Amino acid sequence: MKILPAIVPLGLFILTSCDSPKESDTVSEKSPPPPEHPWDWIPEDPALASGREIYLMECSGCHDEGEEGAPALTKKSEWDTRSEQGLAVLLDHALNGFQGPDGKMPARGGTPSLTDEEVTNAVNYMLAAPK
Ligand code: HEC
Repeated sequence: MKILPAIVPLGLFILTSCDSPKESDTVSEKSPPPPEHPWDWIPEDPALASGREIYLMECSGCHDEGEEGAPALTKKSEWDTRSEQGLAVLLDHALNGFQGPDGKMPARGGTPSLTDEEVTNAVNYMLAAPK
């Protein structure tokens, strides 16, 4: 019975070492890669990655497809005009909310418990996400 604890980690090690090349094979087989949705992209930058988490939890309901006049994450043209206002304006609108020509953006997406940093990360993520 004393042999088991030694076998398990060994087995795991073999599994992991065999798996990695296979995984990358499947990835290249499954290319071409343009992600189906912008939100499939997982940023390497930790601030953007946590912004994505916030986005998925608190912002995607309106912004994935552009509900209630919200600029859709999928539509680059809708973001080009927004970005022209500059990051400071976008952040102000996201933090404090605003009534725009297309609809109402609630302060912090309607989740008052979000910190400034979380909202900022989410906005930066939305701007950086491939569209
Ligand atoms: C209830 C729906 C809703 C939710 C949830 C929501 N938004 Fe919005 N958002 C809107 C609408 C509608 C607009 C566009 C208003 C307009 O321009 O008329 C908007 C616009 C924006 C803009 C562009 C501001 C500008 O100046 O053009 C940013 C940035 C933004 N939202 C960020 C966020 C973030 C970050 C979250 C999550 C924390 C979020 N939104 C959640 C509805 C929503």
